[in-house]
Formats: sequence, C-alpha cells, structure tokens
Amino acid sequence: MIEVSKLTKKYGDKAAIQDVSFNIAQGEVVGFLGPNGAGKTTTMRILTGYIPPTSGEVKIGGLDVFADSLVVRQKLGYLPENTPLYLDMDVEVFLKYIAALKKVTADKRQTHIRKIMKICGISNVSQSTIKTLSKGYRQRVGIAQALVGNPEYLILDEPTIGLDPKQIIEIRELIKSLAEDKTIILSTHILPEVSITCTRVIIISEGKIVAEDTPNNLENRLSGVAKVLLTVKGQPEKIKLSLQDITDVTEVNIKKTHPGGLIDLEVASQKEADVRKELAQTIVRNDWDLLEMRREVLGLEEIFLKLTTKE
Ligand SMILES: Nc1ncnc2c1ncn2[C@@H]1O[C@H](COP(=O)(O)OP(=O)(O)O)[C@@H](O)[C@H]1O
Ligand SMILES: [Mg+2]
Repeated sequence: MIEVSKLTKKYGDKAAIQDVSFNIAQGEVVGFLGPNGAGKTTTMRILTGYIPPTSGEVKIGGLDVFADSLVVRQKLGYLPENTPLYLDMDVEVFLKYIAALKKVTADKRQTHIRKIMKICGISNVSQSTIKTLSKGYRQRVGIAQALVGNPEYLILDEPTIGLDPKQIIEIRELIKSLAEDKTIILSTHILPEVSITCTRVIIISEGKIVAEDTPNNLENRLSGVAKVLLTVKGQPEKIKLSLQDITDVTEVNIKKTHPGGLIDLEVASQKEADVRKELAQTIVRNDWDLLEMRREVLGLEEIFLKLTTKE
C-alpha cells in the first residue's frame, strides 16, 4: 500500500504540487497522467525519498518514506526521468553494481541478474556497453535496474518517453508482465498509455489532482456523456431539483450564479439522449426564464484537455 497524504512541494513561492493525496493498493497498476510540468516527476521523487516535501507525508507498506528511508528503499524500484545509466559500463556489470548497492548477497547476484535480464529481454546485450544501445534497450536496462532486489513497488517515471511505436509496445508488454506480482505507479503525459497498461488513473494538472478513476469508468463517464449548458433566471436549488427529475438527466451542477438571479447550469445526460426539449419545457412550465442553451459531447481526449488546461 502506498499512502500519499497532502503533499505540497514549493520551489520558492511557486508550488510544484499542492495538497496531493492518493492511495495505491497492493497489486494495482496506477497511471499518473498529466501534461508536462504538471508535477509528476516532483511527486515521484518525493515518493521515492529523493526529495523531501514542503509538507505532507508518504507511507509505503506502512513506513514513512523519510523516517524509514533505508527500509523503504529496499522495497522500491525506481526508474527516474531521463534514466541515468553509467554509459561506459556493460549491461551486466552495471546491473551487478546496482545489485551490490541494493545489498543483494554476492552469491545470489549472478542468478538474480540473469533472471532480470531475461524478463526485460536484454540477455542478448548483456556484454554490450550501455552507450552503444538504442533508446529502447536503454529503457529496458533502466527498468531492469529498477527490478534489482525484487522490490514490491515499482515507480516508473515516463517509461515510454522518447521511444518509437514498436519499442513503446514492447515496454508496455514488459510492464504488464511485471504487474502480475508488483504494485506499480507509472507516469505519462500521453493518454492511450494508461488505458492500455493501468487499472486506475490519477490525473494531475498544475500540481493538483483533478480526476481519479479506472480507465474504463473515465472513458464511460467522459465519452458516454453529453452536456447541456444552460443559463436560466430563477431560484438555483429549485431549478436544480426539477431538472434532475427529467428522465435521462444524470447530473445537474450549478456552475455560477450571477447577480440579478441568472444561473449557469451544466446538465449531464446519457449521450444518446437529447434532453434539450424536456429541459426547455420544464423551465417554461415553472415560469423561469431560459436565456441560453447549448449542447456539447465530450470525448476522452477533450476531457483530458479540459481537466488539464486552464480555461
Ligand atoms: N528543482 C526545481 N526547481 C524549481 N522548479 C522546479 C524544479 N523541479 C520542478 N520544478 C517545477 O515544478 C513544476 C512541476 O515539474 P515536474 O514535477 O517536473 O512536472 P512533470 O514531471 O509533470 O513534467 C514545473 O513547473 C517545474 O518547472
Ligand atoms: Mg516529468
């Protein structure tokens, strides 16, 4: 279990992340999705104990990442952004070195590393110097490095960034195969990534969490929904209640109340249903004034953009 509670990290006056809280249960594969600069790397660095938060706390397996940092690090595998590798080392030598750092006992290192290289599909380049490897292979070495010591938790910062489409598919397959016995959080700024690999998605934008759900639910919730935007004059709560009663209306939100009794409302409905007529009739029947009505249908991409960009 990873428990993140109220993390804030400030650089000077500017908060890179603010009040970030989430939990990840054992065995989950969670996608941490957000545009560049959203605060993904900052959050992951804090999760792995590399930088302290300004406030808030992180517990992994019940232990505080800072107070018990040595124990926690044994349980963690971390692929940092821009995978720092020792470019002049051979792959196997590099992994042995990491194994020594992670306190894998000398007699077990060879077997352990062979196994990891096999899982990551890098056995054939075990004797190659890292700097001679393609970006895709280097990424595999980065993931292999994170697997040394058989950690329960994997924290992968943009594992597929900079890879070509074929390499991306291969890395996704690799992550999926690892998911069988590990708890994984991976960050990405591209949407399709999460629906393919993850059981749950946390969307972060400008340092704040803006949505959290399964990819399926997100997709249904977001693409299966049509919205009607209304401006009505009348009593907000009464209007809300009446509109909620209409068949096929799933949600009514008051977006804004203006002076003079004007109210902006957002009415969500099943995508197939067009509730505009019923909305208009209900409003007229109640003697409220209908000043504006507009329908929009949202796709997953649009929703992601909506959630992650300022209006
Ligand atoms: N060491 C730092 N000093 C100052 N600002 C930083 C530092 N690291 C990150 N930031 C800022 O914090 C915000 C979040 O960055 P980051 O966590 O790298 O986002 P992401 O990984 O989602 O692209 C950005 O605005 C970035 O400029
Ligand atoms: Mg980043």
